[in-house]
Amino acid sequence: MAFDQSEFRRVLGHFATGVTVVTTLDAEGKPAGLTANAVSSVSLDPPLVLVCIDKKAETAACFTASGVFTVNILSEEQEGLSRRFAKSGPEKFSGVGFHPGGNGAPVLDGVLARIECRIRQSVEAGDHVIHIGLAEAIGIEGELDPLLYFRGGYRNLAR
Ligand SMILES: Cc1cc2nc3c(=O)[nH]c(=O)nc-3n(C[C@H](O)[C@H](O)[C@H](O)COP(=O)(O)O)c2cc1C
Repeated sequence: MAFDQSEFRRVLGHFATGVTVVTTLDAEGKPAGLTANAVSSVSLDPPLVLVCIDKKAETAACFTASGVFTVNILSEEQEGLSRRFAKSGPEKFSGVGFHPGGNGAPVLDGVLARIECRIRQSVEAGDHVIHIGLAEAIGIEGELDPLLYFRGGYRNLAR
């Protein structure tokens, strides 16, 4: 390969994305989650979405343990939440407003939209696992503009 990992990351960073916190539950049923932008719609019929989760993430085992996840799409006012959920540690949810959705995974206050899923299929792909989830419940929760990620930095629609 004529490129290294940092170049791969830099080039892929030119694909502008939204930002989500993907929530799930640990083996004891406690809230878990991480910031993720490797999220995509997959199928309309049935309604499927995917999330790509780093095998090294502390949250990784929770997806298999619970069999559920919820994609929380962040608004431009939630950069702080994105930063908080992008760091490993046990205190991610302290002081964060949320309620359990229908699948049990947390729905965070103030998100633009939620997609509550049950895992249909998990595919190992390099250092990540692709979890494909069937959307069981969905909703638009807010009308603000989205938080965006581009070239390794947070953006919004205005800049
Ligand atoms: C904008 C952004 C997008 C990210 N996207 C992903 C992703 O799609 N999948 C992933 O596994 N990690 C992603 N991460 C990294 C995780 O959020 C980070 O490794 C986090 O610390 C994992 O938490 P955990 O170890 O508590 O599970 C992203 C981080 C940022 C800032």
